[in-house]
Amino acid sequence: MSRFFARSFEDYKSLYQESTNTPETFWGEFAKESFSWIKPWDSVLEHDLKKPQVSWFAGAQLNITENCIDRHLEKDGNKTAIIFEPNAVDEKAKYITYAELSVAVNKTANLLKSLGVKKGDRICLYMPMVPELAYAVLACARIGAIHSVVFAGFSAKSLADRINDAACKLVLTADGGYRGSKITPLKAITDDALTQCPTIEHVVVLKRTNQKVSMLEGRDIWWHDLYDQQSGNCPVEVMDAEDPLFILYTSGSTGQPKGMVHTCAGYMVYTNFSFRNVFQYQPNDVYWCTADIGWITGHSYIVYGPLSAGATTVMFEGVPSYPDMGRFWQVVEKHKVNILYTAPTAIRALAKCDLSLVTQHDLSSLKTLGTVGEPINKEAWEWYDQNIGKSQCPIVDTWWQTETGGILISPLSGITETIPTFATLPLPGVQPCLMDDNGNEIDEQNAEGKLCIKFPWPSMARTIYGNHKRFKETYYSAFPGLYFTGDGAKRDQNGNYRITGRVDDVVIVSGHNLGTAEIENIIDEHEAVTEAAVVGYPHDIKGNSIYAFVTLSDAHQTKDAKALEQNIKQLVSNTLGPISKPEIIQFCSGLPKTRSGKIMRRILRKVAANELDAFGDISTLLNPECVQEIVDNRKNEMR
Ligand code: WT7
Repeated sequence: MSRFFARSFEDYKSLYQESTNTPETFWGEFAKESFSWIKPWDSVLEHDLKKPQVSWFAGAQLNITENCIDRHLEKDGNKTAIIFEPNAVDEKAKYITYAELSVAVNKTANLLKSLGVKKGDRICLYMPMVPELAYAVLACARIGAIHSVVFAGFSAKSLADRINDAACKLVLTADGGYRGSKITPLKAITDDALTQCPTIEHVVVLKRTNQKVSMLEGRDIWWHDLYDQQSGNCPVEVMDAEDPLFILYTSGSTGQPKGMVHTCAGYMVYTNFSFRNVFQYQPNDVYWCTADIGWITGHSYIVYGPLSAGATTVMFEGVPSYPDMGRFWQVVEKHKVNILYTAPTAIRALAKCDLSLVTQHDLSSLKTLGTVGEPINKEAWEWYDQNIGKSQCPIVDTWWQTETGGILISPLSGITETIPTFATLPLPGVQPCLMDDNGNEIDEQNAEGKLCIKFPWPSMARTIYGNHKRFKETYYSAFPGLYFTGDGAKRDQNGNYRITGRVDDVVIVSGHNLGTAEIENIIDEHEAVTEAAVVGYPHDIKGNSIYAFVTLSDAHQTKDAKALEQNIKQLVSNTLGPISKPEIIQFCSGLPKTRSGKIMRRILRKVAANELDAFGDISTLLNPECVQEIVDNRKNEMR
């Protein structure tokens, strides 16, 4: 067993010490013993966080799929790599061995090559959670194409924006995607998006739901027509350590989503390291992360981390509520899942249901539980602990971001003492700090501040695709020389971190990162609307939900408010997808503004959260009179 995987808290402490005292030796030795490299590196780390400019393992050559697939074949070719659990309970699960995965990925890679895809090309994957999505991700990596996975719940506009931002050459999609009792018409949505995407040469369409789709002659091709004729052997493209591996979009506090760029070597090294340490994965464990591959959680902890560790990873096509709210527990029992990694929003929704949905299933295989995506409240944590873990399974509350590529702050299962609502301690190699509003680091242990990271870690995003300036401004300017996470955090006397939530204009709804500005832009487009301010407010199940304050143009003041409200909600839902739809819309005659004209969202956040007594000084506002009206007309969800 490698010395880089902590077995005890003493191990953790000594690894942590070593990783901060001599980071280059630490990561260099770990990387050397844990992966196959085509050529070793010249230097482990070069960095200047002021620029920011970071490179890990510069000079090295590798291919991540050799590490996720090929090197396991000799010993573990017959081991199950992926367990595919379909949406429908009566459809058979698939057990895909490493040997089968190898053939499928190679064939998919050759399929891409047959369409002229080359190293560096951007390929958009807009697909349901079926094995072919994992094959496609790995096929891109194998030939050095940069994948950009777009979550299959996103709208045509969101898809088009992402395709255009990265100038993708190809889209891989399916006729439709099953989600519970519904089918998402993925090909139709893609067709819609592609009316605005000049760079797309071909669309490859997987048959999944068998619904009728239209195929554009010359552009659209059925997946199976190409796939079946490919060879199962595709040599890897030799990748430089810092070549881009993928782009993944995340919402920002201004309109346009940010295409975070992750690179080959550092991402591989850190997702493997964090997966094995946090979950304490043992060779025969069945591991299930319930996320979608459309999010970073799925990239790092369904595909790359587990597969590079030779693990068995479950891929679930469906939703927690189908055919009933017991589905997760049925799947745990069916596949004897040992490690379950899910989101607080799912836990809260499942905790509201009749407990018999849980107790009718045998969950005794479970050893470790995980959560990710947003702060978990104490009640949900305790419910998860008692009813799912039967008070026997450590819960790892893993804090990280699309930008960080991997888990940065988390207990190590069974090793770190857990505390409900705390992500606890940084992983080896991670150096967090808390900053005050004056830009000074807070030295006291017991403190609260803005969460930053002081020193590079291997899986950090290197840039925003095509916009390094925005990358610098967003993450490296608030506190020069530090990575600013956008989150606030508290630290206790023992150094445990508790994430308190975003301190910027990003709201996390059911674990989805939504930029309020992006939603405002859509509402602003409505002909009746003069101006909109969107904020998040606490919601029992979703964690946060969206509250929109909207002013109307004079001509629309007297119109039917209810209908207009529905209309605006629909507009957002159609344009950005249902997850972005405001829960509440309140029409007001004005929005509180500073003298420079900036909307004071701080006040609106308080109104939305029903904290009506602590606005602070509002006399400096341009229009303080509008605040009382907003308070008087505040809406509750229930009304
Ligand atoms: C934001 C990042 C990382 C994968 C999923 C989300 C929040 C994430 C936790 C946690 C408290 C958390 C933060 C972070 N967040 N995990 N364990 N406790 N907050 O990735 O969409 O990039 O969102 O999610 O606010 O900044 P993402």
